[in-house]
Amino acid sequence: MKNDTEKLLLKIESLNVSFYSKIRNMFYFILRDINIDLYNAKKIAIVGESGSGKTTLANSILLLNDERITKYSGNIIFYSAKNCCNGSYNILSTVETEKILNIQHIRGYHISMIFQDPFNALNPVVCVGEQVEEVIKIHSPDLTKKELYDKTLDLFKKVKLPEPEIIYKKYPYQLSGGQLQRVCISVALANNPEIIIADEPTTALDASLRDEILNLLTELVTKEGSSLILITHDINLIRQYVDFVYVLYAGEIVEYGLAKQIFYNPLHPYTQMLLSCYPDKSKKGKRLPTIPSELPDLFDYNFVFGKCIFVNRCEKKFSRCETKPHINFVNGQYVKCFLYEK
Ligand SMILES: Nc1ncnc2c1ncn2[C@@H]1O[C@H](COP(=O)(O)OP(=O)(O)OP(=O)(O)O)[C@@H](O)[C@H]1O
Ligand code: SF4
Ligand SMILES: [Mg+2]
Repeated sequence: MKNDTEKLLLKIESLNVSFYSKIRNMFYFILRDINIDLYNAKKIAIVGESGSGKTTLANSILLLNDERITKYSGNIIFYSAKNCCNGSYNILSTVETEKILNIQHIRGYHISMIFQDPFNALNPVVCVGEQVEEVIKIHSPDLTKKELYDKTLDLFKKVKLPEPEIIYKKYPYQLSGGQLQRVCISVALANNPEIIIADEPTTALDASLRDEILNLLTELVTKEGSSLILITHDINLIRQYVDFVYVLYAGEIVEYGLAKQIFYNPLHPYTQMLLSCYPDKSKKGKRLPTIPSELPDLFDYNFVFGKCIFVNRCEKKFSRCETKPHINFVNGQYVKCFLYEK
């Protein structure tokens, strides 16, 4: 991934995120020591099973987690290519006023988000065209009504919505799931952001639409020169769409590397198991493997901080796994597992 000719856009460094639990009256760590680099015009995926912390990670980048119960530590440094925010800005900056001012500016203008469920992402009582216009207007308040309208129709054409003038006047309930997700993609593209975060953008859609929407999204991201953070629990769905993959398990990145390496030569036992669960033609008629047991209890600090996070489910575990492995660099990819520690 590291290449001096590429411009670093986002650096997540030693990020820890914890939530307060009212029932247990304590904070517990959802994400631990997350390190991610996103370069200009690159597409990365964050994959992991349900509850691994993918949405919490996506929300952290735009400070969208519930601030009343969330604690952050580490750095999320955004290097603006649009030449503002003094060139770089730590989203987790402790200077409160600066944080609020900048995060509002960053949201939608520099970094935008596509949510899992397009039905809930849009306002049900405002027609979709006006919703797109509102997003453009926040960052371009001087545009006339006509300019906003034309820009919205252009965006609808970009995302291949048929009859944009008619779609403009529709309310969310009048559109199909696929059409709504196209509207959400147009909202995300509205201000030419440098980074688009798509949190499971196809999970709420029919299987037949998933590839179509992912194709559209990745094509547009490439065309606009943006970078993409694609979040999914389905590692196989994103095979052909991303350059780099981070595998998240119970709040820790356990493996990362070039997509083709992760897909064809996964090193971490968790990634190997995740890929082996995929129903491809070679497994026709056979029972698919499953990953035994479940995610660890995040309140169990001795487990979470003292052992390999995958030890309760790993078929390759050995005595050393009762302590914590480090990230190792092996054949061009990074893996957090004692099998690769010297
Ligand atoms: N508002 C919240 N308050 C307390 N705990 C939360 C909250 N939101 C998420 N969590 C917990 O944080 C952990 C990670 O949740 P998160 O939604 O980030 O996972 P995910 O990987 O996105 O899962 P999914 O694939 O189901 O969307 C889970 O244990 C979840 O119960
Ligand atoms: S460190 Fe041990 S338990 Fe953890 S994934 Fe590697 S082999 Fe399995
Ligand atoms: Mg999620």
